[in-house]
Amino acid sequence: MASEKSKILIIGGTGYIGKHIVAASARSGHPTFALVRDTAPSDPSKAQLLQSFKDSGVTLVKGDLYDHESLVKAIKTVDVVISTIGFMQLADQTKIIAAIKEAGNVKRFLPSEFGNDVDRGHAVEPAKSTLAIKVQIRRAIEAEGIPYTYVSSNCFAGYFLPTLGQPGAAGPPTDKVVILGDGNAKVIFVNEDDIGAYTIKAVDDPRTLNKILYLRPPANILSQNELVSLWEKKTGKNFEREYVPEEVVLKQIQESPMPINIFLAMNHSIYVKGDQTNFEIEPSFGVEASELYPDVEYTTVDEYLNRLL
Ligand SMILES: NC(=O)c1ccc[n+]([C@@H]2O[C@H](COP(=O)([O-])OP(=O)(O)OC[C@H]3O[C@@H](n4cnc5c(N)ncnc54)[C@H](OP(=O)(O)O)[C@@H]3O)[C@@H](O)[C@H]2O)c1
Repeated sequence: MASEKSKILIIGGTGYIGKHIVAASARSGHPTFALVRDTAPSDPSKAQLLQSFKDSGVTLVKGDLYDHESLVKAIKTVDVVISTIGFMQLADQTKIIAAIKEAGNVKRFLPSEFGNDVDRGHAVEPAKSTLAIKVQIRRAIEAEGIPYTYVSSNCFAGYFLPTLGQPGAAGPPTDKVVILGDGNAKVIFVNEDDIGAYTIKAVDDPRTLNKILYLRPPANILSQNELVSLWEKKTGKNFEREYVPEEVVLKQIQESPMPINIFLAMNHSIYVKGDQTNFEIEPSFGVEASELYPDVEYTTVDEYLNRLL
């Protein structure tokens, strides 16, 4: 019954990943609330997005991360809070933590994560400091005793697959493909709609309580070499593979301006260090989404690449 489903508030629902989470929440019958700064934006695309939220039954709540009263008021009306705020506001999620403490009714908080497991990576600077902010937020949530789930969704398909994972490229390769490291580290690509679906499945699930939910759909775990081979098979073309040795990648990171150096350092962690797959999920800290929710028919990398042909 719909009434048994938790009420969900999404903070950052108009963002890149947030809109998929709002849509998944509404689709699965959870009473869904989106905290928005401007309920009548002049930007037509944003207005259209908010209209699509309303059309799918989502309640818009006017509020701001930096307006404590608005946060507390919004949080008091729901059971679950999901933050999908962007990079610049990550550290200020302490404000959501403070509001959750004051409201006192939240059954689950999912902070803005949606990437690598920040407690288990080997990122170099400046990505290391960025990820450290997410680590600090985790520790603050745990110190306050707030029930949580951390969603480690790995690579957003829409960010990484159109370029076959080549940093800075505008689209798929035409003749040459640049590969960081030896191209053998296994990387995980997850379609944004599936990230929404898995995230919403987790909010009322006791198995994900105080755990990291890893999104590792088996068909979507590929090395960059495998990804390029798959693309070659589909296009019937062979690409020259230009391998960039790790020491050159590290030098490029040091010499690149912000924010290119952050993206490059993230790519180094993912493609050279293999930080998405170089550890086992232990039951003490984590669970895997495709095992918990086999009913989610996720988009495979193979299917995703077909769309790009
Ligand atoms: N795994 C991957 O491949 C990958 C890729 C990119 C990002 N990520 C992660 O995904 C998470 C979300 O990033 P994103 O790129 O989806 O975010 P984003 O597109 O930058 O969206 C940010 C959201 O925060 C809202 N916001 C900003 N300031 C606010 C305020 N003061 N009060 C309330 N809301 C405010 C924005 O609202 P407005 O619409 O009003 O501006 C927007 O909805 C981050 O943790 C990021 O690290 C992962």
